[in-house]
This record gives sequence, C-alpha cells and structure tokens, in this order.
Amino acid sequence: MIRPILIHPDPRLKKVAAPVADITDELRVLADDMLSSMYDAPGIGLAAPQVGVSARLIVLDCVKEEGAAPRPLAMFNPEIIAASDEVNTYEEGCLSIPDIYADVTRPEAVTVRWMDVNGAEREETFDGLWATCVQHEIDHLEGKLFIDYLSGLKRQLITRKMVKLKRDRARESV
Ligand code: NI
Repeated sequence: MIRPILIHPDPRLKKVAAPVADITDELRVLADDMLSSMYDAPGIGLAAPQVGVSARLIVLDCVKEEGAAPRPLAMFNPEIIAASDEVNTYEEGCLSIPDIYADVTRPEAVTVRWMDVNGAEREETFDGLWATCVQHEIDHLEGKLFIDYLSGLKRQLITRKMVKLKRDRARESV
C-alpha cells in the first residue's frame, strides 16, 4: 500500500522516533508499504516519521544504474557505529521537501548496525550515495531534516515555500 508522505513543516517530522522493541507483523507491513511508497515517489530513502509513524525504521535503495537489480533495505533501530574522517558533499533532496535540493557535507563512509525484518542483527559499511542516504534517513529518526544543515535564512525561505505548497495542495484537493 502506498502511504501519503508528510510535507515539511509538520511537528511529526521534528520528533525523535521511538525504538522498535519487537518486529511485529504490523511493522513488517509498514516496512513493505514504505518501500512501495519510496519507489512510487520516486525516491531512494524514506523514514517512518515521514509517513507519520514514530518508529526507528528506515528503508532505502540507492541502486542508480539503469537495469541493475534493486537492493531494497529495511533497517530497524539503525545506528551509526563508525564514520570516516573524509567527507563528501552531495546535493540532497527529501520526499518531505519536494523539489528542493541543496549541498550537504557528511562523512564519506559510515558503518551502520541495524536489525533486519527477521530480527537479525546486521552490520555494513556504506560509502558514496549509500552513505549519504543512510545518514539522511537516520537523521529523520532524530527529527532532523537536511535543511537543518543550511543557514537559517535558507531554511526559512524553503519552509515558506513548503507552507505555500501545502496550502496550494489543500486548495486543489477541495
Ligand atoms: Ni528525507
């Protein structure tokens, strides 16, 4: 099922998400729905708070090459356990902030530990786009958006645009 994605500003996007204790069937359905919603958008990552659920769950698939096999990942309670000193700057976007892109600098590589849909502990080191994406999604679990890395002025301009977008969309749906 495709779930609607919240648009910034929304208090649910600013909350610290709750840890997942047990991976219930409900949470497995949520992970599936989030992957469908992410591919549908289309996007390369999505965090549970973006669909209005306060749970530490993110999904991502950063395979970009045309014709390459998809690699959907669902991570419960993801944690960055190591980060490189080297940094990388990527032009980031976010499904909760449509059509806005800005450069963000983050560690070039990170090692992440998480629980998979079967409850097994997994650990992997990501670099390049995968590293940027997984850090961006984990930020969502802390109530942090990529625009929080920008200057206050830029953030205000973007937020104002989003308020207008939400107003226009609400009007269209009447
Ligand atoms: Ni995002």
